[in-house]
Amino acid sequence: MVYDNIVLIGFMGSGKTSVGKILARQLFKKFVDVDSIIEVEQNSSVSDIFKNKGEDYFRALEQKCINELTQKTGQVIATGGGLPIYSSISKKSLIVYIDADFEVILNRLPAKERDKRPLLQDESRAKALFNQRIDTYKELATFSVDANQSIPTFIHVIRDFILDQRVL
Ligand code: S3P
Repeated sequence: MVYDNIVLIGFMGSGKTSVGKILARQLFKKFVDVDSIIEVEQNSSVSDIFKNKGEDYFRALEQKCINELTQKTGQVIATGGGLPIYSSISKKSLIVYIDADFEVILNRLPAKERDKRPLLQDESRAKALFNQRIDTYKELATFSVDANQSIPTFIHVIRDFILDQRVL
């Protein structure tokens, strides 16, 4: 199988953006981040889009964004945690699940980062969301990496897997 792009999926705060930037550099691919693209295009933060336009509006933007990105090739794409739940991702993408436990994620995220995420404000609801989503992440993934360690300790595992694949 020849993949067009590498798509990183996983729960909020699992490290998709940080991992994506490093991987893209190491693999000589372009890094793109769906949330950042939406924020620039809408000239608004994700939390303001949720507040002012609602979650459904945001989900439609995510689907449009991933459709447009996957028309192109050679990118490492960091998604928002809900994107693979509400949007379909091109079958030609190599999908990597950044698999971190809920408690690890919470400990990893500084308060400032938590504040940016509307769906992480109530811890017990966030935990329920995590439990609801985890199977879908695993089912969609071409490859899952145990992301409970620090990023430098697992990034080479992802890189070695990808280097064994054909990605345009
Ligand atoms: C969301 C995850 C966020 C962002 C939005 C919704 C989700 O992205 O897209 O707040 O539903 O899991 P991160 O996964 O980068 O935090």
